[in-house]
Amino acid sequence: MRKRVIFITGASGEVGQALLRALAQNPQNQLLTMDLHPLPPELRALSAHVEGDLLNMRLLARLVSEYEIDAIYHLAALLSTRAEIQPEEAHQVNVEATLQLLKIAADESQWRKRPVQFIFPSSIAAYGLPDRATKAHFQRVREFEWNQPRTMYGCNKLYCEQLGSYFSRHYRQLAVEQPPTIDFRSVRFPGLISADTLPSGGTSDYAPEMIHAAAQGIPYACFVREEARIPFMVMPDAVRALLLLACAPRQRLTRQIYNVTSFSLSAAQIRTRVLAAFPDADVTFRPDVKREAIIDSWPADIDDSAARMDWDWAPAYDVDRAFSDYLIPRIKERYTRP
Ligand code: SER
Repeated sequence: MRKRVIFITGASGEVGQALLRALAQNPQNQLLTMDLHPLPPELRALSAHVEGDLLNMRLLARLVSEYEIDAIYHLAALLSTRAEIQPEEAHQVNVEATLQLLKIAADESQWRKRPVQFIFPSSIAAYGLPDRATKAHFQRVREFEWNQPRTMYGCNKLYCEQLGSYFSRHYRQLAVEQPPTIDFRSVRFPGLISADTLPSGGTSDYAPEMIHAAAQGIPYACFVREEARIPFMVMPDAVRALLLLACAPRQRLTRQIYNVTSFSLSAAQIRTRVLAAFPDADVTFRPDVKREAIIDSWPADIDDSAARMDWDWAPAYDVDRAFSDYLIPRIKERYTRP
């Protein structure tokens, strides 16, 4: 008998660590995690962890022979800045590995005669506005608008949203036998900010980097100009969004890809909040025009009314609560802990 598990890829990453903690709170969840890197020591008891590459087909085949996969949270990805530096590698990790996992989910669904759930975090990077004037004009975009990404990562996410939808509706549509269906659900996240971890290789990283640097008394030069603006969300809300979407009754879902967001801030507004908490912080602006152009192509805000309507999504942390109840106290504690 294979052991039934929830499978989390990219588990050592920012969202992965937070999601693993949350899923492990329910003792009924048996968790299988995978990442190129080990889990941090404090999380190691929470799952069976496999250190390895998702592109290693033999390894994946071995996992499927040992485990019956109930649900997949596929978080592994190269983020937007890193993907511009290594676009072909990004395509392999972000697209080809996703295709393999979708196929595994489809095979498992057919074998079990029940759809495997496939939860896929997508991104604001799936949008691409052509210039600052257009961004100023279209303040809050809906899921189907401006889907012309300018980054490899954005292209990868947008395509994998489509691949997931295809696998859940039309995969093997010409086969004689009943085609397998998977239960594919995706959220498009804004920039994410965690108090416990720092991102690497993203373009929205200036926000968490600024706050964490200030808390440590390290000078920070922000790589976008003061007016650059995108929406953000704190990590507990990101995890809640994934879990709420996973729990939503399927018949209530009117789409497979949903925007979720919390607050929209310019880089200058983030600095103001950082200075209110850390008055001696040394935060300056030294824009990197190329990374800033990526931020300028992402919308100033996204419209998440479909998620609010269909599965009662609402962030628990608005901007005030995000800073006063989560980011500032927790980051302060993190850097003063002996
Ligand atoms: N945070 C991601 C990045 O900056 C966007 O989803 O790449």
